[in-house]
Amino acid sequence: MATMNNICFIFFLMMTAMASVSMASLKVGFYRSTCPSAEAIVRKAVNKAVSRNPGLAAGLIRMHFHDCFVRGCDASVLLDSTPGNPAEKENRANHRSLRGFEVIDEAKAELEAQCPQTVSCADIVAFAARDSTYKAGHISYSVPSGRRDGRVSLEVEPDNNLPPPTLNAKELKENFARKGLSVDEMVTLSGAHSIGVAHCRAFRNRLYDFNATHPQDPSMDPIFATYLKTKCPPQNDDDDDRDDPTAPLDVLTSTRLDNKYYTDLKHHHGLLTSDQTLLSSPSTAGIVRNNARHGAAWAKKFAAAMVKMGYIEVLTGKQGEIRKNCRVVN
Ligand code: HEM
Ligand SMILES: *[C@@H]1O[C@H](CO)[C@@H](O)[C@H](O)[C@H]1NC(C)=O
Repeated sequence: MATMNNICFIFFLMMTAMASVSMASLKVGFYRSTCPSAEAIVRKAVNKAVSRNPGLAAGLIRMHFHDCFVRGCDASVLLDSTPGNPAEKENRANHRSLRGFEVIDEAKAELEAQCPQTVSCADIVAFAARDSTYKAGHISYSVPSGRRDGRVSLEVEPDNNLPPPTLNAKELKENFARKGLSVDEMVTLSGAHSIGVAHCRAFRNRLYDFNATHPQDPSMDPIFATYLKTKCPPQNDDDDDRDDPTAPLDVLTSTRLDNKYYTDLKHHHGLLTSDQTLLSSPSTAGIVRNNARHGAAWAKKFAAAMVKMGYIEVLTGKQGEIRKNCRVVN
């Protein structure tokens, strides 16, 4: 009987060990012994780039989101197209709007010089998003690391994974739920729209020809719509959006990552349908009001949700690879 109990106990230990491997596969300070300056190198590249161009903080935070929602946080978003295989970058969700790739390249070049083939591109993106969050909002958090890089990037995949800006609250909730994120996390992470810009193609439908009865989206303040129309003229070929103008996502504090985005929504100054719907929908309006009222609590939730997003379908251990160049598979 004693042996039977022992076997059961050993089995139990094995199960808990396996469970913790899949639950906590990443860890803070993963490169502490293999590349001690890894995180400092990324921080330096981000600080330099964002000091020159504050918009890159927005670009890098968005890059982590677009990486994690498509094939998990595996740096698939960074891969360049190869002949016959257009990559995620070419998808309309990324093309001519995702920015900051050179910052990742610069950090990677320095990392390869100091610790060859040690630090994954997926971790660089996660660190860069964290450093951008600190630069733009003085919100700090530790990033569990140890992600590995994927070998596949397909142009079509953002279509079924990244939410388009026309979604309503219910659809956004479902989209984030598919990635294991709650409705509170969805509303909280949307607060990233407190910095950066959107091109007219992402919201022009709200200004002209909204629907059969309303030329303009009635959930948008008409005075705000008039201001946006001065930035976005009516006809502009969506296929040739090279010169598509932009507008700030947060009109109150466009370069500061803070909770003013939620105040914008209360004023009906949300730029995208997917922003304003968070106030229009009863299931998320309360979260919006709370985030607008309690900035410090929102910042804390934002940091936690960024960490959680960073766990989506990660490759670890011997899966994937550590790319030498973030734009190409080894
Ligand atoms: C809730 C669903 C979301 C939708 C529908 C959405 C959609 C969009 C769209 C259409 C743009 C404008 C792109 C352009 O025209 O250049 C944008 C920008 C941006 N998004 Fe989101 N987004 C969402 C969630 C998020 C999340 C979770 C994050 C990060 C945590 C994020 C971070 C950003 C940032 C920082 C920008 C500005 C980028 C820049 O200035 O370069 N978004 N988003
Ligand atoms: C147009 O949009 C408004 C506001 O969303 C809505 O109440 C109305 O039913 C829509 N009309 C049509 C014809 O779709």
